[in-house]
Amino acid sequence: MANDVRAVEWTGEGLRLIDQTRLPGRLAHLEIRDVEGLVDAIQRLAVRGAPAIGVAGAFGVAIAMMQGAREGWDQAALAAAVDRVRHARPTAVNLAAGVDRMIPFMAKGVEAVIAEAQALLDEDVRGNRAIGAFGADWLLERAGDRALRVITHCNAGALATAGWGTAFGIVRELHVRHRLDVVYADETRPLLQGARLTAWELSRLDIPHFVQADGAAASTILRGLVDVAIIGADRIAANGDTANKVGSVGLALACADAGIPFVVAAPWSTIDLATPSGADIPIEERAADEILSWGDVQTAPAGSRAFNPAFDVTPARLVSALVTETGVMEISTGETPGQR
Ligand code: MRU
Repeated sequence: MANDVRAVEWTGEGLRLIDQTRLPGRLAHLEIRDVEGLVDAIQRLAVRGAPAIGVAGAFGVAIAMMQGAREGWDQAALAAAVDRVRHARPTAVNLAAGVDRMIPFMAKGVEAVIAEAQALLDEDVRGNRAIGAFGADWLLERAGDRALRVITHCNAGALATAGWGTAFGIVRELHVRHRLDVVYADETRPLLQGARLTAWELSRLDIPHFVQADGAAASTILRGLVDVAIIGADRIAANGDTANKVGSVGLALACADAGIPFVVAAPWSTIDLATPSGADIPIEERAADEILSWGDVQTAPAGSRAFNPAFDVTPARLVSALVTETGVMEISTGETPGQR
């Protein structure tokens, strides 16, 4: 489909990232040549979304090797730099997995690492296409003749991946099949990934949508305005518990009450079989000013403290289906990734 965007690209000399902090106002790019720049881009969400930071982390190993060669690092300095990339954000397992996948290739040289990172990127795009098709098939088998009304949270689109999108990939596939009515995109406080990024992607594709306050989501579901919630994931435990952007679990609870499906879409690279349950998933806590300020203006009184977890965990019992590139698992009926 036209209009696709590439959040992460290798130029031959380094990484080219869409600076997602500038969207939707400007489509600007960052050229990343060193580890400091990459860690900063990941931490301030210039590049974000689990699969996208996984691919950026994989190329980050090549960046560390190239910087190390320029600056005469020893093995210990290189290992420390790779470790900094690996730990730039804690919740999305794709980041650590992307870095770890490159480690065996380091001995073969930087070109081998770049080739493997490019393979990861290409796999992610292919996987997203498959997720879109499997997810749309699963939903339409249950939808009768209706065009679906979908609620989303955060951004799990082309911007959050190597291209196309996971949860958003299903939305796109429904649209391509003329079976999408409308999307309710949660704005996604505090950093507005829904209002800024998902709405930008929806607009580029001419997909009818509303942006709504996160606080509207439960009521939108209980009023019968949507048929399904579709979200992405940052880490899925072996038992199916799913970490995603904070606010996701509220959608899941409302969907359970309303009796509509709550669908998680993610590649296998987001499933962490070494993590038994959601209680073991590390949840990133971010800076207080994201909550206590609006732009540069402080909105909360001096002295108020912020609680700012970036993610929450939806228990497996609330996840109707997990759509991966290999098919659909009906998690709430007892299927788990760990059984596969
Ligand atoms: O903090 P962010 O913007 O990186 O959070 C991203 C999300 O929660 C996405 O829903 C998730 O990574 C899936 S992206 C395909």
